[in-house]
Parts: sequence; structure tokens; C-alpha cells
Amino acid sequence: MKKEIYVFDYATEILKQLKSGFLITGKYMDKVNTMSIAWGSLGIEWRKPIFISFVRENRFTREILDKNPEFTVNIPYGDYDKSIINYCGTKSGRDCDKIKDLGLTLIEPEIISVPAIKELPLTLECKIVYRQLQDRNKIPEEIKKTCYPEDVGSSFYGANKDYHIAYYGEIVKAYICED
Ligand SMILES: Cc1cc2nc3c(=O)[nH]c(=O)nc-3n(C[C@H](O)[C@H](O)[C@H](O)COP(=O)(O)O)c2cc1C
Repeated sequence: MKKEIYVFDYATEILKQLKSGFLITGKYMDKVNTMSIAWGSLGIEWRKPIFISFVRENRFTREILDKNPEFTVNIPYGDYDKSIINYCGTKSGRDCDKIKDLGLTLIEPEIISVPAIKELPLTLECKIVYRQLQDRNKIPEEIKKTCYPEDVGSSFYGANKDYHIAYYGEIVKAYICED
């Protein structure tokens, strides 16, 4: 069962939780892949409710989003297993099936093709309406040093030399998955 919500009624919960991490999920063909994010923005552009996710260039998630321009965002609401965020934020879908490894429960989406994840029940279904690689020439040196270290390769899950692509997802449905 799903309880439909007005996303901005939950803005505080969403943004507070972002600091500890939640999940962005994509799907291409039969492959569903999810990764942890701790950076993002919730707001309005083009009169649409938008969630922006910042995904480094070499993430497997980036490949999937570029093939199927839709994603779900899944946010803890109530108790949850924190090891989910750790696992999905350190393993790549290139090498494993994170959904299967953790035994996560996929929930049929309402509008898009990408499922929700029941264990982190606050769900945003998003359609990508815009994407942009951030311009390294406009990023302050101080941030470059800490967030884009040249000597760390792309495959590292933490800060590395890859810049972020901002994926703007129009929030087309928002709900909480319930029993
Ligand atoms: C708490 C946490 C937050 C993270 N936030 C982001 C993020 O906002 N953007 C990003 O590109 N990677 C982020 N990562 C790293 C990815 O989740 C990690 O590299 C993941 O293994 C990528 O999976 P994929 O290769 O299947 O896409 C984060 C990792 C953790 C643990």
C-alpha cells in the first residue's frame, strides 16, 4: 500500500535525512541499481517540483540514468537498517547486484519504470528533465581540492577526480510505502 503525499509537506524530513544518506535508483532493461547519495536539492524550476541529484561521471548509476532518464529517490522514514546506505554507497552495480545482496523489497512504481524500495519507504518518482556536467572552471579552488582530488581514481566511492553531473528529476509522484 502507498500513502500519497505532497512532497513539500515532507521537505524538512527529506533534507534532514539527506545528510546521513538515502538512495537513488535507476533501471535499464532488467537491471535495477541503487546507490547512496548525500548531496541533492529539493526545489522548484520551470514551475515543476524538482529533486536534483549530483552523480559523479564514472558511477554505474550515471550509465543507467543516461540510458533510461528516470529515477526513484528512497528516503528512510522511521527505523531503518543503516548498513543499507553503507553497502549501496561503497559497492558498484558494475560488480554486484545490491538489491539481491541486501534482500531489498522492490515496489511497483505508479508512473515511471523504476521501482521503489520498501525498506526506505518515503519515495519520489522522478523523470529527468535536464542534466548538466558541472563546469570545473567555475568551481572554487578550495572546493576542487577537497571534493575533486586529482590523484584519486574514478572508481573510488568517495571524493575523486570526477566531477558531478546534476540530474534534474521532475517529481511526478511522491508517496510512503506502507504495509
Ligand atoms: C553516504 C554516502 C553518500 C554518497 N553520496 C554520493 C553522491 O551524492 N553522489 C555520488 O556520485 N556518489 C555518492 N556516494 C558514492 C556512491 O554511492 C558509490 O560510489 C556507489 O558505490 C556508486 O554505485 P554505482 O557504481 O552502482 O552507481 C555516496 C556514498 C555514501 C556512502
